[in-house]
Parts: sequence; structure tokens; C-alpha cells
Amino acid sequence: MKNSKVLVTGATGFIAYNLIKELISLGAEVIGLDIVPFIGSRIEKLDVEFFQLDLLNEEKVREVINKTAPDYVVHLAASIERDPKLIGAIVKNNFEMSLNVFNALLDKPIKKIVSIGSADVYGNNAPPFTEETKPMPTSAYGLSKVLISELCSLYSRIHALPIIEIRPFLVYGQGQTNNQFIPYFIKECLKGNEVDLTPGDQTKDFVYVGDLINAIILALESDKTGVYNVCSGKEVKIKDVSSLIKELCKSNSNINFGARPYRKGDGMHFFGSNEKIKRELGWIPKTSLSEGLKIAIAWQKANS
Ligand SMILES: NC(=O)c1ccc[n+]([C@@H]2O[C@H](COP(=O)([O-])OP(=O)(O)OC[C@H]3O[C@@H](n4cnc5c(N)ncnc54)[C@H](O)[C@@H]3O)[C@@H](O)[C@H]2O)c1
Repeated sequence: MKNSKVLVTGATGFIAYNLIKELISLGAEVIGLDIVPFIGSRIEKLDVEFFQLDLLNEEKVREVINKTAPDYVVHLAASIERDPKLIGAIVKNNFEMSLNVFNALLDKPIKKIVSIGSADVYGNNAPPFTEETKPMPTSAYGLSKVLISELCSLYSRIHALPIIEIRPFLVYGQGQTNNQFIPYFIKECLKGNEVDLTPGDQTKDFVYVGDLINAIILALESDKTGVYNVCSGKEVKIKDVSSLIKELCKSNSNINFGARPYRKGDGMHFFGSNEKIKRELGWIPKTSLSEGLKIAIAWQKANS
């Protein structure tokens, strides 16, 4: 990565923040693209050549890519909105952003494109999910990721574009501020708030952001294309991760398991297989759930 130009879309987001720090420490030159302004963002103190733009603007995307001539691209930008009423907009926007980025790279001497997919493509299928598992999304977001995955496969076949898809499961860690379960629950525990949850017997597969960043770097450096799950390979009950977070936060919060119904459409078991990425890219998840949660909690304490 040293002295390479790496363009990162969705540059002010949670995963990009962690990726960009690592790329800079490896000696890469980073170009960041996001619709969100640089000033006031997570990455404002990092050494990044930043372009504020909407990736739905095909002409602007092409202009920036022509101007900056990256060696590598990591495409992270997406709307992670799951509102079923917005199905058309979510699917269209996520797909179109990816199409604009890949189209602008078609005639370029690009070394590698890492497209970030999502385990939401597996939805209600039977775990453990392998890369061969048939997609069965339960949200517009999941459907958009299925279509983007097909686009990656098509462009790598018909245009020989060197695209690899990294498909993370539930990512958590420092810098995460949205309302996904782990950051939400940490915030509530640190405030000592009472929290209403489902009975908590449903399982998820959590992966620490630092381990995901290692996977992205391995993917950038490899000559592989295709799809690679990034997950722990272990299923953890929401009940158990909640108790662990409460304990690590030394919180007095009352947790009311069963006060809320399970989310409609959610399956009870959700976990993946990481055999392919271990075998072909030599990746291993190094951070245990409790180690990763300690880092996420410390970050949350220092930043709230
Ligand atoms: N966080 C997770 O648990 C997780 C799990 C699996 C996959 N992913 C994927 O990883 C990627 C990054 O996720 P994240 O958690 O960092 O989310 P995030 O919301 O923090 O980052 C996404 C970024 O994309 C930008 N963006 C959205 N629409 C844009 C547009 N039209 N033009 C320019 N920029 C735009 C946003 O402003 C944001 O900064 C996404 O593709 C997401 O689907 C995340």
C-alpha cells in the first residue's frame, strides 16, 4: 500500500474512518469521497484529499476519478436505511452509486476495487451462511446489496474489472455512532438508562472493525475476485451480548428482556462461515467479542 493512491467512498462513515487511519499508517495516499462535509466529520483530523460529492452524480464521480487517478478503490458508501416504505429509493440509490463508481473505473489502470457488501443478503436463509448460500434478503437494503453483488460479478466477467466483494456481518467498534444494536446499547448502559429489549434469544455474528479492516487490506493486496464473508463464524444471543456489555460498562441499567416483540421478518439464527477467507486470503478474526467491546466502550466513554 505504501505510496499507493487509495480512493475511499463513504469516507466520513464509521468503517471508512477506521480504514483510512490504517491506510495512512501503511503509507498510502488517501482520497476520500462523501456527501457529508469533511469539517466536523470523523476524519477531519486525518491527512485525506477530500471531495464532497453525491455519488449519484455520475459526471462528478467521473470527474474526480479522472482527476485523482487512484491505484485502488474501496467502495463503502451506501444508505443503510431499512425503512420498508423507502424500498424504491434505497435500492435505486445504492445500486446507482455503485454503478457510477464502477463505470468511472472501466477504462482505468486500476489495481483492485474492494466493494463492501453485507450479510443482509442472506436474510432468512438457514445458517451458517457461506458465499454459496442463496440470497434471501428481508429488507430493501439487503436487496440493494444483492444487486450490487451481481453487478460486481458481471463487471468482473464482462469487463475484467478487478473487483472483490467483502461481505461483513455485524460490525462494531470505535467510531460507531449510529443506532445499530451495539452502539445503541453501550450508550444506554453508560447513561444507566432502563432498556426494553426482545426476549433476546435470536443470534447474530459480530465482527470487530479492526478485523474487518485487516480483511479489506488483504483483499486489496490479493489477486482474487469474487465474494468473501467477513464474520466470526460464531452465533451469539442478543441476550448474552447485552449482559456482557452491561457488565463491561459496570452499568446499573435495568434490562427488560421480553418487553419488546422480535423484529418482524428476522430469523432466530444468523451466523456465517469464514472458511473461504481464512483459506484463500489467510484472514483470521483476531479480536474476541469481549476485547472488541472493551475498545468500543472506551471509545464511547471518551466521545460522549
Ligand atoms: N456497520 C456494519 O455493521 C456493516 C455491516 C455490513 C456491511 N456494511 C457496509 O459497510 C459500508 C459502510 O458502512 P458504515 O457502517 O461505515 O456506514 P456509515 O453510514 O457510517 O457510512 C456510509 C457513508 O456513505 C455515505 N454516503 C451515503 N450516500 C452517499 C451518497 N449518495 N454520496 C456520497 N456518500 C454517500 C454516508 O454519508 C456515510 O458517510 C456500507 O456499504 C454498509 O452497507 C456495514
